[in-house]
Amino acid sequence: MHTLSTCHLMRCNKFSCLRHTSTKTCKRTLWFPVLALAAFLLANPSIVAADPDTDRQTSERVAALLGQMTLPEKIGQLNLVSQGEPVAEQLEAVRAGRVGNMMNVVDPAIIARYREAAAQSRNKIPLLFGLDAVDVFRIAMPPPIAWAATWKPELAEAAARAVAGETAATGVNWTFAPMIDISRDPRWGRVIEGAGEDPHLGAVMAAARTRGYLSGGLVPTAKHYIGYGAGEAGRDYNGALIPVSDLYDRYLPPFQSAIAAGAPAVMAALNAVNGVPVTANRYLLETVLRRDLGFRGFVTADYNAIGELKNHGLAADLATASRLALKAGIDLDMEGYGFSGHLEDELNAGRIKLADIDLAVARVLTVKFNAGLFEPKASPVAPPEAETRAIARQVARESIVLLKNDNATLPISASIKTIALIGAAAKSEYDESWYGPAMLTKPATKSLYDALAGHLRPHQTLLYAPAFTDPCAKTLAGASEAISTAARADLIVMMVGEDCEFSGEGASRTNLDLSLPQQEIFDNLSALGKPLVLIVTAGRPLTIARQSAKSDSILYAWLPRTEGRIALAELLTGETSPSGKLPMSFPRSVGQIPISYNVLPTSRPPNENRFTSRYLDEPVTPLYPFGHGLSYTTFDYANLRTLSPTLSSTGSAAIDVDVTNTGSRSGDEVVQLYIRRPVASRSRPLRELKDFRKIHLHPGETKTVRFDLKASSLAFHDDTGKPVIEPGPVELFAGTSSTAPLSTSITLE
Ligand code: BGC
Repeated sequence: MHTLSTCHLMRCNKFSCLRHTSTKTCKRTLWFPVLALAAFLLANPSIVAADPDTDRQTSERVAALLGQMTLPEKIGQLNLVSQGEPVAEQLEAVRAGRVGNMMNVVDPAIIARYREAAAQSRNKIPLLFGLDAVDVFRIAMPPPIAWAATWKPELAEAAARAVAGETAATGVNWTFAPMIDISRDPRWGRVIEGAGEDPHLGAVMAAARTRGYLSGGLVPTAKHYIGYGAGEAGRDYNGALIPVSDLYDRYLPPFQSAIAAGAPAVMAALNAVNGVPVTANRYLLETVLRRDLGFRGFVTADYNAIGELKNHGLAADLATASRLALKAGIDLDMEGYGFSGHLEDELNAGRIKLADIDLAVARVLTVKFNAGLFEPKASPVAPPEAETRAIARQVARESIVLLKNDNATLPISASIKTIALIGAAAKSEYDESWYGPAMLTKPATKSLYDALAGHLRPHQTLLYAPAFTDPCAKTLAGASEAISTAARADLIVMMVGEDCEFSGEGASRTNLDLSLPQQEIFDNLSALGKPLVLIVTAGRPLTIARQSAKSDSILYAWLPRTEGRIALAELLTGETSPSGKLPMSFPRSVGQIPISYNVLPTSRPPNENRFTSRYLDEPVTPLYPFGHGLSYTTFDYANLRTLSPTLSSTGSAAIDVDVTNTGSRSGDEVVQLYIRRPVASRSRPLRELKDFRKIHLHPGETKTVRFDLKASSLAFHDDTGKPVIEPGPVELFAGTSSTAPLSTSITLE
């Protein structure tokens, strides 16, 4: 049974929407017998959900639906199209079943029209509406790198839930988040979207964020699978060379954990890993993701990734690229127009099978069923603004890292009478959230100046000088005014930052220094010899060795966003004490990058001898290590002990450490547990984070923190990706950062 219809499609690229109308003849396929499909689906456990009864029901519904779909309708379900103009044409494509998924539509009224169009289509299959709802919809949270710096998964979960809640209220039901790429390279601008360099912290945050987006009403997408954060030389989209053992040990844990937490979608990375672009990499998508990680949802290509297989030199034309992607395990074509334009011809030419298409469609439909898209439900209501603001403020409070605090310069003491706040960013309401999709209703934001003025004691005076023309500190203005203002104060607080728009996608850099105008003013201020507090805003570790040497205190604030200036004012004045810890090592210079704490030992550990693994012009150690972050109080670690001297290969070990607040005020501390395998069949990292706990301690209080170290977490992978658990000694370290000296050991049997 054949019918003819006409297909019109709109083409947009990410940055502009161009109108392209292509007319094409579409053929309706023969119906696939429903029972055969049901059997086929049940024989493919990779696409069914966890609970067997629900699995069966969903599979049956998917099979029934597939059985009544035409080929163009099936291909439509694999088609993800950006919102563009004119809406009428896109609505028609949805009505005809040629577009099954939309992205970047945020206007609730337009979403409602698309939904209606889908409801009028022959099969009435609801659309997925995708969006990069990461950390901002309306109220801007600090970015995910800051969520990781809280070392508090429940806070990351709350932040994700709040962003999802605001987003879902528009009718959007799918987010292209969490981004969970491990990266040891702050030259890469997208470290802002992830959790930094560590597989364990990354895995904990990946699960938390996944749960948060899910419970906020969005289908989460674990991205970018895989190795996107390992692009050579920190260049965005660049290829990565990753040994298989490292792939499993370092890069996969966050994906494993997001999948376990319920992520039903994965986005393939744009780059190539070991020479094969992930979008066409069957080994990575089928063997590793689906077989080894047990992923059962759908994989979407990244933006135009199928088309870009031509740039990778993998396909000479879009038809081949589309075939390769589908066969490798890509289910959705995001703005590539390869599936919609070529799968039918590829099928007719016998280069792909109908079963290849059906499998991808089944995966998409399964996610739609499991996400409840087919069930009528009232539109979700956005969480109350006050609640979202409170979460945003708490994330800012707990993520800002006190890098140094000589002479207890912070919090600002009562003896300080005059404070000079320097930097145009300090009196600006710019909240670094320029890319928030709901820009038109940008929420009110307090400047640091206003927030701080409200927190100072009555006898304290706040002076201010902008020093730059704009909050992004591009141009100097009034340097002498800034210096004379600072000269009149007892304490200088300078707010500097990475140039605006220098973090994020397409923002790789070779120079991570503060801009020259900022350096210049800073040098002048530090020459005054007054106590100097530096507040740094950035989406990545910057190279601030020079400024670090000349500041008394540094608060690394990431991008503090909507509520962040209030959080900063609270921290400056001591209303709250800092508790953020670094999720990435801070390099002294770009030459040290890539940098991470969990490196392998070398044959010649660095020392003063030239012929050791060292630099001639720089120490090998970072400026600030992974896990570092001070508080206004101090903590002492003692009695690290195992309850048993041995650990069985299938068991777990209780490890205790006593932590005491030795200062005079309450504070939060992130107690960190690291291990090292000193002898194994392959070199193992000098340290590996295995667990952590954020605790609150009153002055003088001691708490015993118990970690439960599972033997399975001591496994590492061989060159084929097989996990091995080897008996032998395991060194344990507990403390306040990755350099914690306190150690003991246990034997793995
Ligand atoms: C990015 C993805 C993003 C997509 C859609 C791509 O360029 O790599 O992370 O989800 O665009 O905006």
